[in-house]
Amino acid sequence: MSQNEATATLSPAQIGELRQRALAVGANAYAPYSGFRVGAAILLEDGTIITGCNVENASYRLTTCAEQSAIAAAVALRGPTARLRAVMIVNLNQAASSPCGGCRQTILEFASSRTEVFFPAADGSEVRCSVTDLLPHAFLLRER
Ligand code: THU
Repeated sequence: MSQNEATATLSPAQIGELRQRALAVGANAYAPYSGFRVGAAILLEDGTIITGCNVENASYRLTTCAEQSAIAAAVALRGPTARLRAVMIVNLNQAASSPCGGCRQTILEFASSRTEVFFPAADGSEVRCSVTDLLPHAFLLRER
């Protein structure tokens, strides 16, 4: 996918690919404590898709969310200028899964004004929203 394709309006095919990639990586989740398997697929502005899953720990607070796994991998691969075009979050539990507060702040850190976030709602539909919708009145250390 070229950079122009990645920055244009997301096509249904792109959204579908993100959903499939998120579902596939969700199967790799390490979630022996909650049993809640989450997958995240992110589309970077350069067209790259990177995925991540949740990785739990017996010391519960050391758990890494799927979104944070994917974003850390994206930064490791592309460096600090990596920017999110889209974030797709799914789970394998047929449940709603809105990104947690910490993940919202992490998404914001690498978002642009055009970043779109997708996640499963309680009624079985898929929410599509902006980062401002997700995290109004966000903490920023400086103006972006
Ligand atoms: N989880 C995520 O991966 N992303 C979120 O945004 C919310 C929660 C994971 C963490 C934990 O492994 C499981 O879901 C239950 O909270």
